[in-house]
Parts: sequence; structure tokens; C-alpha cells
Amino acid sequence: MDCLLVIFGGTGDLAHRKLYPAVYNLFLSGQLSQHFAVVSVGRRDKTDEEFRRDAVEAIKKFSRPNSGTDEDLNAVVSRFYYYKLDISDSYGYVGLKEYLSRLDDRYGTQGNRLYYLAVAPEHFKTIVQHLKSAGMVVNDGLSWQRLIIEKPFGSDLSSAIALNNVITSVFSERHVYRIDHYLGKEMLQNIMTIRFANALFEPLWNNKYIDHVQIISSETKGVENRGPYYEKAGALRDMIQNHMLQLLMLTAMEPPAQLDTESIRDEKVKVLKSLSEMTPAKVRWDVVRGQYGRGYIDGKPVVGYREESRVSPFSNTETFVAMKVEIENFRWGGVPFYLLTGKRLSEKFTEIVIQFISLPEVLYFKELKGLKPNTLLIRIQPREGVELYFNAKKPGVKNEIIQVGMDFCQNCAVDAVSPDAYERLLLDAMKGDSALFTRWDEVEYAWRFVDNIAKVWAEEEPDFPNYPAGTWGPPAARELIERDGRRWKMMESGNAV
Ligand code: BG6
Repeated sequence: MDCLLVIFGGTGDLAHRKLYPAVYNLFLSGQLSQHFAVVSVGRRDKTDEEFRRDAVEAIKKFSRPNSGTDEDLNAVVSRFYYYKLDISDSYGYVGLKEYLSRLDDRYGTQGNRLYYLAVAPEHFKTIVQHLKSAGMVVNDGLSWQRLIIEKPFGSDLSSAIALNNVITSVFSERHVYRIDHYLGKEMLQNIMTIRFANALFEPLWNNKYIDHVQIISSETKGVENRGPYYEKAGALRDMIQNHMLQLLMLTAMEPPAQLDTESIRDEKVKVLKSLSEMTPAKVRWDVVRGQYGRGYIDGKPVVGYREESRVSPFSNTETFVAMKVEIENFRWGGVPFYLLTGKRLSEKFTEIVIQFISLPEVLYFKELKGLKPNTLLIRIQPREGVELYFNAKKPGVKNEIIQVGMDFCQNCAVDAVSPDAYERLLLDAMKGDSALFTRWDEVEYAWRFVDNIAKVWAEEEPDFPNYPAGTWGPPAARELIERDGRRWKMMESGNAV
């Protein structure tokens, strides 16, 4: 864990919002080694003092609530340094190398480096190649150098392969940490525990007892100031290719033989390999895309996507995707998984709904029509927890049945603030544990799946915008599930669930 965290793009948004607060909270919880320092690498002129002032401000603004004091804050940022570098200048890396060795001497970090690429993906290649030429990646058994990269990892399969070839020509796969920040979320890590540590769930986790699964990640925010990136990505590449498929893999994977990193990743990737192929006909029938128009969020008017800054007024980029997918294996054959994600929807939440089958229409079902099937709700955010809904007798003299819920809320207690995903991910990368990072074949199969959809969409002109901001997306998303006789969980009204 002794290392220098070297952040390329350290003056950017991600570093300020996520990385510096994460480092601070790791420091507060005593997880950081004494032999640790942060170096922000950027283009601009900046002194260490100026950089530290910015970092303090960012930490105060973006950190999760904690009991830290100004003294703690000063103690942590006293280990923060700024280094000015033009990332395309190969000589500059020689200077950086010397600078980092001096910090090694000061902090006893022994040449260990966590290189974090918080820059636009078009710079990945330049940076890793210069790191290599400057002799800054050795991994000789005496010291280690790891690479953390943010998404997007390519924009389709072929660009992802090209990028991966460059990266793995410098860093071997086991030294590459591809971030999917959803994997750092507490409740995602909890999915496997809930499934595999409970006799109550695992035996029922299959097509015999589960009717269907819904995986929903909805946001109220719009594209914000990320127009240029989002125009090329859209919800399919921005959310489905990574976060949504990670949720799907964790929900559907087989129990791994062991709890080690590779066994878990092996099982996850098998889910992607078993996804039924998205043929053009299937894309047209089972996948819905949408783009928000003007509407209201929290009672306030907001503009449509095409009016957002740095977005084309004729943009065909989707801000919403809903789809039905099937996993062709013995456990899941015949069980639809409905995925839905979008921006500018009614509410911000991420959850997984496991809807169990309806019982045969005997006994109570025969007597009292409309009994609800059991439902397990895994809430990922903002509320974290698990809820289980089942039928019970309504107290009273009449023979009535109601649906009741058992509710485990992980973050409801006043002082129960889960660590931010980046805390866990940074810590794991320092420890060399890559279980919560994406392996190359996960990226590869996710692109194979997504590319098939993108290809069909590219050939057809969508009728955008097709949903007002502040709603649950286009009507076709509703039809997608209702034609199967089911409903999106958040659209069920008067329902206990
Ligand atoms: C990011 C996407 O990866 O995830 C964003 O690029 C999206 O567009 C975000 O808003 C959602 O993350 P979270 O943690 O807020 O659900």
C-alpha cells in the first residue's frame, strides 16, 4: 500500500469531486499508509500551495459527511503535490520521473506507483507510451506500477481492442485497473452476499421461482456540461455497456468456485457470453431508445436535450434506453431481464427488482383474486438496502390478505454513511486487489452486445425528442414490459412495493 498516487488530469472535475475526497476519507479512517503521497499532473501553471487550496475546497464541498477537522484536512493535503507537464512532451516525463523519485525518498514509497488516467481517452495512448519510454513502468518484483483508467474504454469493440492493445503492451492485464464506479458501491458488493450467503434466496434464484427481473437506474439530472462526450456516447455506451451490465452480471452469475478475483470474474463474464444475440429484429422489438425534451424537474422547467450546451440541435443521441434481455442458460432460460436507464427521469434511484412467480391459483389465490407475487427489492442508491414483500393476513375479522414488507435499510441510521465508491476502489487498487475492476473480456463481451444495438440504431432515424423531462421515458418503454403482462415497478400505483 506504500505508493505515490499520480493523477493525470489532477486539476479536472473527477479528481476534485471524487478522488481527493476519497483520499481524505481513507486518511480519516486510518487506511492510508504513512508512505503515501498524491501528485497531480496537469498542463497549467500552479504551485503546490495553489493546488492544495483547490483540493481543500473540493474536499469540503464534495466529501461525504465525516468527523474530520481542519487539522486532518491540512495533514492530508500536505502530502499533495502538483507537477506541470505537457503530456505529449516525451522529455517532460524524464523530469516527472526524477521528481517522483525524490518524493519516493521523502515518503519511503519505494518506486510504487498508481498512475490514474483522469483525462479524456484520446490521451491514454500518449501517456502510457511515454511512461514506458521514460522507464516509469518496470514491475520488476521490487516495485509495482499499476494503471487505473476511467471509462469510456473505447467507443465500440474495435476501438476498445485497439486501446487495449496499446495499454497491455505497457502494463500487463493484472496491472490494469479499469474502473466501473458502480462496482465500488456498497450494495453492489452486497448482491453476491445476499445471494450466496442465504439459504432463503439461492435455492429460489432461477427460472423455476423467478418470473422476471427489473434493473433500473434512473437519474433526474440531464447531460450537464458533458455535451461533447455524451453526444458520442449516449445512454447505451454511457450506462448500459458498463454499469447496467455489471448489475446484470452480479444478479445472474453462477456461484463462483472460490471467492477469489478471477473465479468471480469468470462467472460474471459467462453471463455476458450467454446473453441472447441482439439481432436487428430483436433490437427493433425489444429495445427502446429515447431522448428528453423540455419538461419539469422538481417543479422547475428544464430544457430539452437538443437545447443543452454543446449539444447539436439535431442530435439523435439517446438519453434513455429500456430493453428486454434473455440469458440463455439452464438457470435463466425463459426469465426476462428488463433494463431501464435514462436521464431527466422522475426520480433518481438504482434498484434491482426480483419478482418471484405467482403461485398456482389454488387456496388463497382462488378465494382472493389479485394476490401479489413475492418481490425482493435490492436498493442500490440513494437508499441502500433490501426489501422483501410477501402476503399475510390483514388483521381483523375478515379473511383479507395484504402485502407486507420486511425492510433492511443499510444507510438509514443517522451516522450510517457508506463510503463513496471511489474510496473502496482506490484502496483496492493500492492493495493490488482487482476484484472490483473490469477485466478485459468483460469489456469485450459488453461491447459485442452493445455494438449490435448501435449498428441497427445507426441505420434508422429516431423520432426524438420522445419524452418530456421529469417523466418515466417514452411510452414505448412502458409497452415493452406491459405487452408481456408486467409493469415497471415504479409505475405500479397503489402498490405496497
Ligand atoms: C457515469 C455516467 O458513469 O455514471 C454518468 O457517465 C452518470 O452519465 C453516472 O450520470 C451515474 O452514476 P451514479 O453513481 O450517480 O449512479
